[in-house]
Amino acid sequence: MRMSAARSPSTKGNWYNGARFPPGQDNIISQQDEEKHTKRRAQMAEGYAGKTNPTLEPTISMHVQNFIDLLRRNYISSDKEFKPIDMGRKASFLTMDVITDVAFGQPFGNLVNDKDIIANNSHAVKDTDVRQDMLSSFIKDGLDENDVMYESVLQIIAGADTTATAIRSIFLHIMTNPHAYRALQQEIDTAVKDGRVTGEGVIKEPEARELPYLQAVIQEGIRVWPPVTGGLQKLSPPNGDRFTLSSREEVHIPGGVNVGWSSWAMMRDKSTFGVDAEVLRPERWLEGEGTTEGKRGW
Ligand code: HEM
Repeated sequence: MRMSAARSPSTKGNWYNGARFPPGQDNIISQQDEEKHTKRRAQMAEGYAGKTNPTLEPTISMHVQNFIDLLRRNYISSDKEFKPIDMGRKASFLTMDVITDVAFGQPFGNLVNDKDIIANNSHAVKDTDVRQDMLSSFIKDGLDENDVMYESVLQIIAGADTTATAIRSIFLHIMTNPHAYRALQQEIDTAVKDGRVTGEGVIKEPEARELPYLQAVIQEGIRVWPPVTGGLQKLSPPNGDRFTLSSREEVHIPGGVNVGWSSWAMMRDKSTFGVDAEVLRPERWLEGEGTTEGKRGW
């Protein structure tokens, strides 16, 4: 948190060269020049925030509904006999369709074999000729043809595999944890009964945000199986930096040193999360008091 904070004097290390697609061509994540990175972020902020896309949520909900329909169809078509389905794979198909639709205005169509379903549904949510996707926002804010090409590869890599891993982890851990499963189901049932979840089909995003246990399940699912495990190395500032170990001992980091971190080790660190750090226990997010320690000082 300290080295990655917005005004931190640490910069991205040359580990980020590996995030260039193709090699030698920078994108928003690989860019180590602070000035260029800040400019690129400003140009892409609107598109990434989804502000130019008034149908962002219905578009995503439509793909989630496709995902649910696909799982149901497979179950029903097997004449009520249990038929295994590779949900991990379907989860990547879902997130690939979502990111390509919101990024480029058209989904790859991986999830549903019958492309007409997607075409018809897409038409229903986007009843306009004006492009509302992320790419059109980037172009409006000054990205040229080459920039757009390199950034679009990153959009797919950054946006699809991360979210698919999160979905897989959350489902796996909920399915195999009766306590968390029941607590989540109960929160949903009560919210529906009380009218805090309205309408048919996929839940609306602002309503989902008001379900604390659901939010804790998402946080905990990502904690217990972090989707990004790369080193994300930052270069310490010329005068060096300090780092507080979990034992509270402070160590000095010399200037110009690449500092990486292991999300796997950190997210399962017992001194941070307690003796049950290895298991999914969403309640820890509802009990914790939080800290801003890492952000302080810049
Ligand atoms: C569960 C989902 C996700 C996780 C866990 C995740 C995680 C991360 C991490 C760890 C970084 C690197 C931060 C650093 O360099 O220190 C990052 C950067 C980035 N992510 Fe994600 N991400 C997720 C979803 C997404 C999605 C859906 C998109 C695109 C639609 C996206 C786009 C980006 C971009 C553009 C950057 C680079 C930002 C910059 O350097 O200015 N991410 N993400």
